Amino acid sequence: MSLVRAHAKKVKPMLQVRLNVSSNSVAPSPAPRPLMEYLQRNPRDEDQYSILSGTDKGTQSIRSIPETPGGTRGPDPLMNHTLCPEDIITIKKLGEGSAGTVSKIKHVPTGFIMARKHVRCDPNPDFQKLLLRELKTLDRCHSPWIVTFYGAYMDDDELAICMEYCEGGSMEAVYKRVAEKGQTISENILGKISEAVLNGLVYLHKMHHVMHRDLKPSNIVVTMDGRIKLCDFGVSGDLVNSLAETFVGTSYYMAPERIQGGKYPVQSDVWSLGLTIVEIAQMKNPFPKNLAAFELLHYIVNQPVPSLPEDEPWSQDFRDFLNQCFIKDFRKRPTPEQIMKHPFIEESSKRTEAEVEMQSWVQNVWDFMSPTAQTPRILESLQR
Ligand SMILES: Nc1ncnc2c1ncn2[C@@H]1O[C@H](COP(=O)(O)OP(=O)(O)OP(=O)(O)O)[C@@H](O)[C@H]1O
Ligand SMILES: [Mg+2]
Repeated sequence: MSLVRAHAKKVKPMLQVRLNVSSNSVAPSPAPRPLMEYLQRNPRDEDQYSILSGTDKGTQSIRSIPETPGGTRGPDPLMNHTLCPEDIITIKKLGEGSAGTVSKIKHVPTGFIMARKHVRCDPNPDFQKLLLRELKTLDRCHSPWIVTFYGAYMDDDELAICMEYCEGGSMEAVYKRVAEKGQTISENILGKISEAVLNGLVYLHKMHHVMHRDLKPSNIVVTMDGRIKLCDFGVSGDLVNSLAETFVGTSYYMAPERIQGGKYPVQSDVWSLGLTIVEIAQMKNPFPKNLAAFELLHYIVNQPVPSLPEDEPWSQDFRDFLNQCFIKDFRKRPTPEQIMKHPFIEESSKRTEAEVEMQSWVQNVWDFMSPTAQTPRILESLQR
C-alpha cells in the first residue's frame, strides 16, 4: 500500500533490529506499542470506527461500526461484538504465506464464519503506527471486488485480521485444481477474472489512492457464487514485505521498474495482472524453473516478456491485452483505468452471467454439489 511504501525507507534501520532480535529466538521485551496505546487512548475514533479496548478479556481490537440503514455497509454480521481470541474457534487452516497463516474461523457468539490472517507483529512503534493506518484504510474499503474486512485484534504478539471467507479459495488453488482434473480455463472466464481484478484496482486507486502492490494468483479469491475479489493489499502482505525487504517470494510478479529503481507507479499493478492472467491461463508460472532470485530479476528486466504459445487458440484481443500489460516501460504501459477500455475487457463486460457462468464454473472446479446431489465432499467441509 502506498502509505506504507512511502515510509518503508524511514523505518528500514529499525527493521534491521527487529530481524536480529527475532533471529535470536529470544522474545523481544515488551516495547511501547502505539497500536495498543492508541486503542487505549481513543475509545472512539474520529469517524466510523469503534476502537474497543481493555475488554474484560484484556484484548485490544479494532472494529468498524456498521453504517446506519441506507448506508453502503449493510447489517453488521458480528452484531457489534468486540473481536477477541476467546470468542473465536479455528475450523481449519487455509494456507500459509510469508507473513503468517490464514485460517477459516467461527465467531462463536454470532456463528459468523470468516477467514483470519495472523501477521507477526513488530513491537517497533513506527511499524505499529503504519499498521494502524493500514487497518483503517482496509476498513474503509467497501467494494464487491475487495474482500470485506471485519476487524482485527491483537493475539499475543500477532495481529489477527478477520475478513470475508471466500469458499472457492485463491486463483492459485483454483488453477491447480483445474490442472489436476486435466481441464483448462476458458478465455471467457479469464476475461471475467481480469475484469474483476481491474475493477478492484480502479476502486483502490480512485477511492483510496492506493495500489495493490502484491497482485498474484494467491491474492485473488473467489466465492462459491463466482464472485472474484482482491485480498492482501497493504497490511497483510505488502507492509510486512516492505519492512522485511529480504523477502523475494513475490518477485515473480514484480514489474521491471520495481526491480530497477523501487518506483511503484500505478502501472506496476497492470504488469502483475498480466503475469497473473498468463499463469492462470497456462496453469503454471510462465518463467523458467530453477532461476535463482537474482537470475529471475535479471530475466524479468532483460528477457522477452511472457506470452501465450502461438499454437494455442487464444484470440488476438486476449494476446494484445497481455502485450499491453507487458510493456516494459511503465510510462507507455496503460493504467488499470486505461486498460479497462481494451477490447478484451470491454467485450468481456458485455457478456452476461448467463453467457459466462462463473458460479457453475467455480462449483464444478470444487465438485460442489447441491445438498441433494451425491458426494458433497466440499459441502461437508463448508458446513463445518
Ligand atoms: N479471504 C480468504 N478466503 C479464503 N481463503 C483465503 C483468504 N485469504 C487467503 N486465503 C487462502 O490462504 C492462503 C494463504 O494466504 P497468504 O496470504 O498467507 O499467503 P499467499 O498469498 O499464498 O502467499 P504470500 O505470503 O506470498 O503472499 C492463500 O493461498 C489463500 O488460498
Ligand atoms: Mg496472500
